[in-house]
Amino acid sequence: MAILVTGGAGYIGSHTAIELIQAGYEVVIVDDYSNSKPAVIDRIEELSGKRPAFHEVNICDKDKLREVFEAHELEAVIHFAGFKAVGESVLEPLKYYNNNLNGTIVLMELMNAFDVKNIVFSSSATVYGMNNTAPFTEDMPLSTTNPYGTTKLFIEQFIKDQAAADKDWSAALLRYFNPIGAHQSGRIGEDPNDIPNNLMPYITQVAVGKREQLSVFGSDYDTPDGTGVRDYIHVVDLAKGHLLALENVLKTTGVEPYNLGTGVGYSVLDVVKAFEKANDVAIPYQLVERRPGDIGTSYADATKAKAELGWETEFSLEDMCRDSWNWQKSNPNGYA
Ligand code: WQD
Repeated sequence: MAILVTGGAGYIGSHTAIELIQAGYEVVIVDDYSNSKPAVIDRIEELSGKRPAFHEVNICDKDKLREVFEAHELEAVIHFAGFKAVGESVLEPLKYYNNNLNGTIVLMELMNAFDVKNIVFSSSATVYGMNNTAPFTEDMPLSTTNPYGTTKLFIEQFIKDQAAADKDWSAALLRYFNPIGAHQSGRIGEDPNDIPNNLMPYITQVAVGKREQLSVFGSDYDTPDGTGVRDYIHVVDLAKGHLLALENVLKTTGVEPYNLGTGVGYSVLDVVKAFEKANDVAIPYQLVERRPGDIGTSYADATKAKAELGWETEFSLEDMCRDSWNWQKSNPNGYA
């Protein structure tokens, strides 16, 4: 039996694929390479010792995706595939709704047709919106402030409704906080298209000389140093969380959300200082206006994932900074 990993050539998907293979699972990856490169599949083979089955498919293409379900005996799906840039989603909402929502409906229809009723979904802490106070718990009211976040909220609802209609469905909704870092080998990592939206890839591009300086979005938040506070989590810790969630999904039914975060918040300037210290490199920055849609403070209450999945994080902020830099300096132009 195999695990279908949609978006498995992406940043979190590739790290998860390696953990799955090393745990003995057979992995099938579908990816349309819209935010990843073919080289990633070679790196997964290099690092795990086994080449996953791969199909270049956009999940909206039902005929092509059906061929994948026909070619492999699947027992579960880990669903990463989707556009993920907050700013772009505000400018092109229909592109996000079509790709992320229609793609998920096609996937879930095929899961039903082939009796594959176990799913681990890549959700996001962004569903906690702007009206909750950190630390965020899974039972808090959900809301979103941009179309990207809305697609995550809607997909959570699709899965909840499907599981209510068919008691054989089993799902884990994994609400990621801020994934950073890279596999210790430095052979896979975050490789954003164009100008990075997220903090750490921007910092590593400044460090490698690709960008002049970091713009710190806002220094007047109600936080210790005025800059935004987030819960940064090492991508390998996150990948291991998917493995534990999959094992749980395979032996239960129903739908459960889980926060995947460290439970500790760090400010933008904390991260800059930690990166400079861990890597002995200077990161020039300027304090600028807040970024529209940002909240001041976000960090997890991660007790549920620990209690129910036996998951806890191992890597420190220093580890995350070291591993992010190790990836970037070994791959100054990503996978290009
Ligand atoms: C982190 C902090 C910024 C860039 C988003 C999505 C979430 C997830 C991760 C998508 C904030 C500040 C950033 C920069 C800065 N999924 N910042 N200068 O916004 O918390 O979460 O990305 O990939 O669903 O919502 O992450 O890394 O963009 O920002 O000062 O150049 O860094 O204001 O305080 P965010 P981020």
